[in-house]
Amino acid sequence: MTTFGSQGPLVLAVETSCDETAIAILAGKRHLLASVVASQVALHRAHGGVVPEVASRNHLTQLRPQIEQALADARVSIDDIAAFAATAGPGLATSLMLGASVAKALAVSAGKKYLAINHLEGHLLSPFFGGEIVPSLGLIVSGGHTILVEVEAFGKYRMVGQTRDDAAGEAFDKVGKMLGLPYPGGPEIDRKALAGNANRFAFPRSMLQETDFSFSGLKTAVRYMLPKFVPADLPDICASFQEAIVETLVTKTISAAQRLGRKTIAVSGGVSCNSRLRTGFREQCDALGFSLLLAPPALCTDNAAMIAFVAAEKLARGECSPLAADIDPNLKLTPAIDWLE
Ligand code: KG4
Ligand code: ZN
Repeated sequence: MTTFGSQGPLVLAVETSCDETAIAILAGKRHLLASVVASQVALHRAHGGVVPEVASRNHLTQLRPQIEQALADARVSIDDIAAFAATAGPGLATSLMLGASVAKALAVSAGKKYLAINHLEGHLLSPFFGGEIVPSLGLIVSGGHTILVEVEAFGKYRMVGQTRDDAAGEAFDKVGKMLGLPYPGGPEIDRKALAGNANRFAFPRSMLQETDFSFSGLKTAVRYMLPKFVPADLPDICASFQEAIVETLVTKTISAAQRLGRKTIAVSGGVSCNSRLRTGFREQCDALGFSLLLAPPALCTDNAAMIAFVAAEKLARGECSPLAADIDPNLKLTPAIDWLE
């Protein structure tokens, strides 16, 4: 197997599940040699959201230069790579196909291994990047998913709860759009909220009995109040809306951890970039004695380093995927890899 010094075999990972063309090169499980992300956000902003055909056509033009950039950043050649990995789902079908096809083509031409990786497993394990995966309760909060998962060990996951309607990031983006903010709304609301009063508007907190989440009522509450707002209210609306989401996520995650006897909470996905979510989890976990692992900011939104990390764990176990492996736009994290099944 190709190795790089004493750092372990090199994995080149490709992530194209949505609108980011991302490439990473990881040596062993810990040494990130390169991670590049070409964001298409400016292209999609004019449409107020991601247009699948625009995304896939842009991946087509970005993949080769991004791979070359990653190899240059890592100071390695394509011949040094031991395995090629790609996100196989969930995501946009045509975007996934491009990344997977390129990774497979590179694996075939170099006679190396191919690994198909679950995007959600990438997010879930990103708080452990570069370290050991410890038993914990994981919260994935992204544009497409809001999921609570028990992590027993690598590959041993059990679904605890999920959203019944909108994902947390989707709620941020939809409310951002209603408020006239540029796409994606999440980071814009985070920025505007810094100057706002989170107690000014009492938006509803959907505390369903179980561990499931619901954010559509909150979104509707903002819509009903829109005619009453004046432009100067914007920072207070953003702060109050954000507080309602953060309080729901933090409270429900901590009560699930208490019930399940989990001592460590691992938070990941694009929304885990949110500054208030990070301080909210930190305050509560410190107060109640939980150990908190937050995905590093660069690994919160879509990136290929998290995909390479999962691939490296699989490679270390001697796993690889057949070249006939398909993509799956609706790929689930569990029960396919639920250790209780
Ligand atoms: O993980 P991600 O890049 O893509 C998916 O797998 O969905 O997450 C993107 C989501 C978007 O909804 C975006 O608005 C949200 O993450 N997001 C944020 C912040 N940064 C990104 N939401 C709230 N506050 C932020 N700072
Ligand atoms: Zn994602």
